[in-house]
Amino acid sequence: MHAIYCGMNLETPKIQPDPPRIRQLDDAAANRIAAGEVVERPASAVKELVENALDAGASRIDIVIADGGKRLIRVTDDGHGIPAQDLALALSRHATSKIDGSDLLDIHSFGFRGEALPSLGAVAHLRLTSRTQGAPEAAEITVATGRVGPTRPAALRAGTVVEVRDLFHATPARLKFLRTDRAETQAISDVVKRLALAAPHVGFTLSDASDGTAPKVTFRADPARGPEAMRQRARAILGADFDDNALDIDTTREGIRLHGLAALPTFSRGAAVAQYFFVNNRPVRDKQLLGALRAAYADVLARDRHPAAVLFIDIDPQRVDVNVHPAKAEVRFRDPGLVRGLIVSGLRHALAQAGHRATTTLTDQALGAFAQPRPTAPVYQMDMASRPNAQTRGFAEDLASFSARVEPIPEPDTPDDPQHLPLGAARAQLHETFILSQSETGMILVDAHAAHERLVYEKLKARLRESTVPAQALLIPDIVELPADDCNRLVNAAPDLARAGLVVEAFGPGTICVRETPALLGEVACAPLLRDIADELADLGTTDTLTARLDAVLSRMACHGSVRAGRRMSAPEMNALLREMEATPNSGQCNHGRPTWIALSLADVEKLFGRR
Ligand SMILES: Nc1ncnc2c1ncn2[C@@H]1O[C@H](COP(=O)(O)OP(=O)(O)O)[C@@H](O)[C@H]1O
Ligand SMILES: [Mg+2]
Repeated sequence: MHAIYCGMNLETPKIQPDPPRIRQLDDAAANRIAAGEVVERPASAVKELVENALDAGASRIDIVIADGGKRLIRVTDDGHGIPAQDLALALSRHATSKIDGSDLLDIHSFGFRGEALPSLGAVAHLRLTSRTQGAPEAAEITVATGRVGPTRPAALRAGTVVEVRDLFHATPARLKFLRTDRAETQAISDVVKRLALAAPHVGFTLSDASDGTAPKVTFRADPARGPEAMRQRARAILGADFDDNALDIDTTREGIRLHGLAALPTFSRGAAVAQYFFVNNRPVRDKQLLGALRAAYADVLARDRHPAAVLFIDIDPQRVDVNVHPAKAEVRFRDPGLVRGLIVSGLRHALAQAGHRATTTLTDQALGAFAQPRPTAPVYQMDMASRPNAQTRGFAEDLASFSARVEPIPEPDTPDDPQHLPLGAARAQLHETFILSQSETGMILVDAHAAHERLVYEKLKARLRESTVPAQALLIPDIVELPADDCNRLVNAAPDLARAGLVVEAFGPGTICVRETPALLGEVACAPLLRDIADELADLGTTDTLTARLDAVLSRMACHGSVRAGRRMSAPEMNALLREMEATPNSGQCNHGRPTWIALSLADVEKLFGRR
């Protein structure tokens, strides 16, 4: 038999004549233990040091790292500094200048636990150099693995420099668990960007000195001021595309303010990589907040797409506890439901207001595709792969093949020609799917199928809000065979489904009987509809609220009811669809977050023909 390491031995009786003695651990050991929580990886060290610089009122923060922060982290700031006589105190445990300890809910700084510097000193070589305003000279102090040296004079004009070398050399176990230098560098960059978003008025640089030569600047954000400061900073960090496609959010409810930027659904991402939350300006990665963001977009995004947003929550510090975890990444709200409601309704409202606006990025890309078939495929912000046939054919080809079949409609010269309206006047239907319309400033291509799907969905939702969705009885009930699990799900949800206009009942093992379908959908094939809804129910589980579940079900239904694809439309029909889109919230994207229309301005078209 192999010898197996048993960890704690719980079997041998512990009652001995001499019980083990209780000892007070020395500071170095206590600090090493605290370091395990506060400094999980180099990025957490960077976070602590940058937060200290921000707390010190810095207007410039320069960060240099080497080997993913394992060999070197140096943070230089121009903040208020530390008096020479306090340097040793700053390195001792639970010593802080930020709170007096009387009220742990009254916190207005990043730090307050007095743990970061002593923890770093316990697991690395640390040098702290500082000079306060008006001090005759700077002073420095060093700690090597817990041993604090004397305070000595040093050279520094103003502010503070904290240098951390050989992080975790004293705790090889932790060192072993670190990821590659590249991954750690990435994590550091992420931390710096999060904090930079929280402080747009502060200038930041992050440089890498790994290769021994002069540090290479890998990130820079110049100080931004004025009302557009946040947008400017977001532009520097998330890119111009995000800025172009982001809606301003600012809403307050019961003393809690939500503000920041949220991108249009068509500017969604394949992973949750562009989601930033701040509570009283502190970057947090809070599951509840991220969940609320998801819920806000649930209606306008496919499940595998992720919204992009930078959102700040300002709340009375008394109503939130940030002292949940040493790294302070999570928070507890006194009234979590209120915060969630604020996020969900605030964002939904803004998205609905944005109405039929679609992403500029797509228009730009379409323009690029029109201009020249490029050797490499253009990078789509949207997940074009999830569009049927997009894998094999580019958008350019799709558009190019239109020319083959254009059905023109006579140009109406009636006085009420709707050209001046946002989506213009319909001029032609292409491929029995797309509507080409002329607006005052250019031309618009509408995906009639996607748009119609959205309109049906919004209508279904509106009906459901009013009372129930009108149903239409089938002449002969439809019997659908489905796997037993799916049947159970549908039968369990039958009362909800009935409110949504779908009346089903159990009909023997593995069969469901459909008696009524939503009237709005017209004639639908029941089997695929039920299969889709069963999938939806399986995906949703039972955790969501009734309303959220029903919306998802309605969204699925809408796909089945979209009758316009593959059908000729008359000019009045097309114009009616455009007018309805203009009047319907969220009509700029289909139920899966894909755009329903794109626009080309005359200026763009002229550019294509080399006229500009
Ligand atoms: N960059 C800095 N500029 C000025 N003071 C600093 C700086 N870094 C640390 N300090 C001082 O050292 C103290 C201890 O820092 P730290 O261990 O991070 O604890 P905390 O930030 O929780 O107070 C701080 O309260 C602050 O007074
Ligand atoms: Mg601190």
